[in-house]
Amino acid sequence: MNRIDTPHRIANPHYAARNARRAVYAKLPRAPLTASPVPRLTSLYHHDEAGPYGDRRYPGNCSGELVKDLLTFFAPATVLDPMTGSGTCYDVCRELGVPCRSLDLREGFDACDPETFPAEGTQDFCWAHPPYWRMKRYCDDPRDLSAAPTLGDFLDRYAAFIANCHRALRPGGTLAILMGDYSDREQGFVPLVYHTKRLAFAEGFRQACTDIIRFSHGASSGTKVYRSAFIPGLHDVCTVFEKGR
Ligand SMILES: C[S@@+](CC[C@H](N)C(=O)[O-])C[C@H]1O[C@@H](n2cnc3c(N)ncnc32)[C@H](O)[C@@H]1O
Repeated sequence: MNRIDTPHRIANPHYAARNARRAVYAKLPRAPLTASPVPRLTSLYHHDEAGPYGDRRYPGNCSGELVKDLLTFFAPATVLDPMTGSGTCYDVCRELGVPCRSLDLREGFDACDPETFPAEGTQDFCWAHPPYWRMKRYCDDPRDLSAAPTLGDFLDRYAAFIANCHRALRPGGTLAILMGDYSDREQGFVPLVYHTKRLAFAEGFRQACTDIIRFSHGASSGTKVYRSAFIPGLHDVCTVFEKGR
């Protein structure tokens, strides 16, 4: 017998919770045919395969497929990943045969420090997947972006990081940042994707293409049950910036 979502069932929290765990299949708009070498790379990035890259158990690990598609599209000669986590970008680069410099605070490299960041004009493409402020805590080192005690502290350090990327890129170089919005009881909704653009534009970057809305398949929050009512965010956003020529 078909089960029908009556108003009574929808209002029932147990039914709603069970229903929310089922996969939902949405019809996506048709994408135009273009000369892109990766036609599946559109503004709606819905692929749920992570690929054999990095370590899915690492907190905040992201799919290597998006990184691979971006590198195939932009075809950089070299890549810098200054917040590498489990090395997803490095693994993709190895497969594609692109030289990659892969760094992280876990090895003592602070991406917000201009003194130790790669030198001016030396980088072709920078892939950045920073902490979404304190959504996941990576370590207790005060230089860790996820350990910033206030939003203001986080944004100051994030601005320093974006400035480092701008300086290190060659003219015309590309910065792709994957960022998600954040919220908690104390702060309310924090639009970190907006702040990413604001800081990047202030530094002199221009946006190179459409926002890429990445569906958050496999996010740990997807299996949680909350007592409060809110609109769940099921995506993060990859914004691709270009340094002026
Ligand atoms: C979202 S995770 C990256 C996950 C990675 N994309 C993956 O697939 O495994 C963010 C990373 O930023 C690093 N990080 C935080 N603050 C940093 C800083 N100031 N300098 C360098 N790395 C930092 C953390 O150690 C963490 O590994």
